Amino acid sequence: MNRLRRLAAWLEDRTGIWHALGPIAKHVVPRTGWAYVFGSATLVAFLIQVVTGITLTTVYVPSADEAYSSLEFITERATLGRLIRGMHFFGASAMVVLIGIHAVRVFLMGAFKFPREMNWLVGVGLLLLTLTIAFTGQLLRWDQNAIWSVVVGAEQAGRVPVIGTAIARFIIGGDFLGGATLSRFFALHVFVLPGLIFLFVGFHLFLVIRNGISEPPHAGEPVEPSTYRKSYAALLRREGVPFWPTAAWRDVVFATIVILAIVTLAAVIGPPALSKPPDPTIVDAYPRPDWYFLWYFAVLAMMPHWAESYLMVLGPLALIAVLIAIPLLFNRGERSPRRRPWAVGTVAFSGLVLTILTIAGNQSHWSPDFGVQPLPVHLIGTTSGPIYEGAQVFYSKGCLYCHRIEDHGGHRGPALTTIADRLTRREMTIRIMNGGYNMPGFAGNLAPAELDGIIEFLRSRTSEGATRARTPASMGPDTSAIGSR
Ligand code: HEC
Repeated sequence: MNRLRRLAAWLEDRTGIWHALGPIAKHVVPRTGWAYVFGSATLVAFLIQVVTGITLTTVYVPSADEAYSSLEFITERATLGRLIRGMHFFGASAMVVLIGIHAVRVFLMGAFKFPREMNWLVGVGLLLLTLTIAFTGQLLRWDQNAIWSVVVGAEQAGRVPVIGTAIARFIIGGDFLGGATLSRFFALHVFVLPGLIFLFVGFHLFLVIRNGISEPPHAGEPVEPSTYRKSYAALLRREGVPFWPTAAWRDVVFATIVILAIVTLAAVIGPPALSKPPDPTIVDAYPRPDWYFLWYFAVLAMMPHWAESYLMVLGPLALIAVLIAIPLLFNRGERSPRRRPWAVGTVAFSGLVLTILTIAGNQSHWSPDFGVQPLPVHLIGTTSGPIYEGAQVFYSKGCLYCHRIEDHGGHRGPALTTIADRLTRREMTIRIMNGGYNMPGFAGNLAPAELDGIIEFLRSRTSEGATRARTPASMGPDTSAIGSR
């Protein structure tokens, strides 16, 4: 015991660590409550990501040839590999959820107001960094899902006026998704973004200590910049408590719960299954981003075509601009949510929209529907001959996964019920061979006879034929109005 104490004294004498950190741990803060635990819990989730992430990099191989198999090895054979990968996955979810709750809490309590505007702005930076690191992490899985996520991201960037193509090339690391893309995302995910997050977190904590933890708001006590600092100091003198241990014990309890939850979920549910290895010629992927991005994919899928270019770029920029403007425009006045109905309404409305979009995203109309059955005869309109045969190829080549005839088929692409009214034989051929926006090109994948068959079939899809097919045989509801994506 005596030796330990002497060692401690020696360390303190030579480093002065306690002398430096002690006052920070003991600094006086207002009496707070459970609402204040989410910031520190986000930090704890981040630290879990750092530890499990470093562990994963000791086995993961960031090369296009080996990434997939090295992840398979981690998941199935490496010691504790499944648990660590699971923790890294659920840790990411936890971090996204916790930073979201933390931001909402700060917003509702008006804690972003004077003098804490910079705390908020640095926090917005941390939010964006967190979403970016979650997004780049998905690509490292290097399976079909991963590829699709990045294609959507690059597609979005490619629409930025003037510099779009350059940004898209930067994201992808060239003109094609491949090894260079993976190296780039790996570097961002394990070096650049964590480094930036550490920096921002450091600055964030520095500001929390400098400006003080916000006191719980009281209705009828508005923030007045000219007097706030004085009354805050008076409040601390009157009823302040030392941060450690009087205020921080709740953080410790909650952080422990978060860690236990992450470990339990990782052990019980495990990491997300890897989808098929990436292969650009496979169209029957089941693309779906991790759940916290589903809402955004739903937006992309439901937007009318003409609006996409604008919304894809301007939407996120507008959201960021709003987040930045909040503390600059509303840095004084009432903090209590009871006196800020607009703030409460905004949160409730955004929460509702996010929930609905996530549910819609989960039903994923924009992804191909692989469960689809062959076309029923009454929709084809004949039981033999070239049109009938073309219809079979149309099914066997997967066209029906994305396109529907009447109400039968997937929703990823436009309905082809009356395509012959719109396109000539030549236009159809070009379409099918070259593909297009969100449609794979079939040039290398169709024999001439197969292509002819498909064209024969599509040439018979006219509005007259469609009406004929619908009237006598099919009793189903008229769904042609749902057609417009
Ligand atoms: C992965 C989903 C997917 C698959 C599989 C697919 N398509 Fe498409 N297709 C689309 C999308 C999305 C569009 C819209 C493209 C655009 O707007 O540029 C489209 C457009 C078309 C068009 C033009 C439609 C129009 O209204 O202009 C035709 C014709 C077409 N596809 C035929 C086919 C055929 C034939 C096959 C099978 C050989 C096929 N597609 C397979 C997604 C798909």
